[in-house]
Amino acid sequence: MTYALDARTGLPPHLRLLADRYPRAVWTGHANFNGLTAFWLERHGMFRQVMDKILTDTQAQLDAPKSRFAPELSRYTGFFLNELHGHHGIEDQHYFPKFMALDSRLAQGFDILDSDHHALDGHIHALAGATNAVLATLKSGARAQEDLGRLEAAQSAFRRFLDRHLSDEEEIIVPLILEYGADMD
Ligand SMILES: [Fe+2]
Ligand SMILES: [Fe+2]
Repeated sequence: MTYALDARTGLPPHLRLLADRYPRAVWTGHANFNGLTAFWLERHGMFRQVMDKILTDTQAQLDAPKSRFAPELSRYTGFFLNELHGHHGIEDQHYFPKFMALDSRLAQGFDILDSDHHALDGHIHALAGATNAVLATLKSGARAQEDLGRLEAAQSAFRRFLDRHLSDEEEIIVPLILEYGADMD
């Protein structure tokens, strides 16, 4: 059974021991829910929002070109990929080792999240490449419909993979915080 990012539809039952005890609806009302956890979830929300914006903008550009598209695409995609890279680094070095140590039953969950980060590295590379191809074509004065189509496909795939990773990561880490009263410091 593969738990690869591009094949997974959610966490397998044996990694949902705590996720089932602490469903999403009870998180913010739980006594062990804290400010740093809220901040971490807000970062995930920000990644989802920026991803949605660059995808929506690309779809709009395919229909009706706007001159501000290129500078905005460049700025938002650069910001998004930079912030996501930094976010993964903190999780790899700090949060994953810390939370992995809390409950050995969820060890495989952290293997999955670590593999996700490696898989997302490849998708980050592909998204940056597709974005740069559009920017180069637009700079030459052409309309870039074909490049925009490829970018839209890369952004749509990225959005799906990112959402899968963020959702599963949240359902592993937040229940651990609630169960063990751990903080994200
Ligand atoms: Fe992550
Ligand atoms: Fe994350």
